[in-house]
Amino acid sequence: MNEKTFALKGTVCYNESPEKLSITENGYLVCENGVCAGVFTNLPEKYNGIPCRDVGDCLIIPGLTDLHLHAPQYSFRSIGMDLELLEWLDTITFPQESKYADLDYARKAYSIFAEDMKKSATTRASIFATLHVAATELLMDLMEETGLKTFIGKVNMDRNGPPALQEESAQASAQATLAWIQETAGRYQNVKPILTPRFTPSCTDELMRMLGEIQKEYHLPVQSHLSENLGEIAWVKELCPNTGFYGEAYDQFGLFGGENGPAIMAHCVHCPDEEIALMKERGVYIAHCSQSNTNLSSGIAPVRRYLSEGLHVGIGSDIAGGTSVSLLRAMADSIQTSKLRWRLVDDTLKPLTLEEVFYIATIGGGSFFGKVGSFEGGYEFDAVILDDSNLPHPQPFTSKERLERLVYLSDDRNITGKYVSGAKIF
Ligand code: GUN
Ligand code: FE
Repeated sequence: MNEKTFALKGTVCYNESPEKLSITENGYLVCENGVCAGVFTNLPEKYNGIPCRDVGDCLIIPGLTDLHLHAPQYSFRSIGMDLELLEWLDTITFPQESKYADLDYARKAYSIFAEDMKKSATTRASIFATLHVAATELLMDLMEETGLKTFIGKVNMDRNGPPALQEESAQASAQATLAWIQETAGRYQNVKPILTPRFTPSCTDELMRMLGEIQKEYHLPVQSHLSENLGEIAWVKELCPNTGFYGEAYDQFGLFGGENGPAIMAHCVHCPDEEIALMKERGVYIAHCSQSNTNLSSGIAPVRRYLSEGLHVGIGSDIAGGTSVSLLRAMADSIQTSKLRWRLVDDTLKPLTLEEVFYIATIGGGSFFGKVGSFEGGYEFDAVILDDSNLPHPQPFTSKERLERLVYLSDDRNITGKYVSGAKIF
C-alpha cells in the first residue's frame, strides 16, 4: 500500500454519460496507486484497512478541467469589459501582457494566479502565458508546485502587436520557442509544454510554418483561438485570402489537430459548417468560454450542436475575457447563455442541461489529458470535495439539487478538498 491508495467517503457524483449523473450517497470512492478503482456502497473487503477520509455530508465530484485561460491576464480581470475583443486586446491586454518582460512583476502576478488556481475546483488546465520565455518558465515552476496538471504555452506573436509585445521576426519567435522547449524538457512532473500561436492575426504564415515544423519534431499539442468574434473573423479573411475559412489558416500548417497531435481551439462561436466538419475530422477540442463570449460581446457558441455531432467540447474560463476562474460558475454561465441562444437565435438547439455542462467540465475537457474526469475504474484520481453547509436551507434537497445549488452559489469557501492523480492538494 502507498500514500496514493485510500478511500474518500461521502456523496459521490459523476457523469455516466452526457445525459446521466451517477450519485452514490454515503459511497466509498477508492483510489489505488493514484487511479480510481470505482465507487462502492460498501468498502470491498480487499480494501479493508486502507486510510479513509470521511467527508460526511459533503459532495465529491471529479476534478474540473479548464481548457482555456490566460495566466498573465488574471491580474487585470474585470477591467475594460465595455470593449469588444480587438479593441480590448489593443488597449488593455497587450499593454498589460508586456509587463511580463519584468520578472519581478511576473513573480508577483503569477504567484497570485497559482495560489488562486490551487484553491479552485480546477485540477487540470491548458494555459496561455505570454511571449516572454523567462516569465513562462517561472509560471511553469509555480504551477508545478501547486500539484495541478497543466499544459502551459509560451505565446507566439510576430505581427500586429505593439512593439513591446511582438517578437522581432518569425525566426526569432521560433528560436525562442525551441529554446523554451529544450530548457524545460524533463524539468516537471505536472507541467507540459503546448505550442501557442496566439491567433492568426498575431502570427505570420512564416511563423506558422515554423511552428508546424516544431510540432512535427517534438509532437507537442497546440492551442489557439478560433472564430471568436465577428471583427476578428473579418480580419482573418483579409489576412488569409488563400483560405476558405478561419480553421484552414491553422490547418494548412498542420496546427489543427489530426495525426500530428491534438489541438485546442478556444471559443468557436461563429464556425461555418465546413469548419465544424474539419474540426470533427481532426478531433479538435473546442474550449467553450461562455463568460468571455458574453463579456467581449462575441456571441454564444452552438454547444449543443457540437455535442450532438460528436465533437470534443470542454469548458474554458478564458481569464481575462472571462472574469472568474470558477468552473462551477462557468457551468452556470454556459447553461444561461444556451437558454438565450435557444430563445433568441435558434430554437432548434435546446438549452444545455446541468448533466451536460457537468460532463463538459469533467470528461469533456478532461479527456484531453487522458483518462480524466470520471470516477469509473481506470480513470486518474482527480477529485474535489464540495461542502455546502454554509448555504443553509429549511427544506430537504436531493443530492442532485445540492449539486445544482453549488453550480450557481458556490465560491472558494465551498471547496474543501482536492486530489490530482491521487495526490492530495488540500
Ligand atoms: N484572441 C487573441 N488573443 C486573445 C486573448 O487574449 N483573449 C481572447 N479572448 N481572445 C484572444
Ligand atoms: Fe483566450
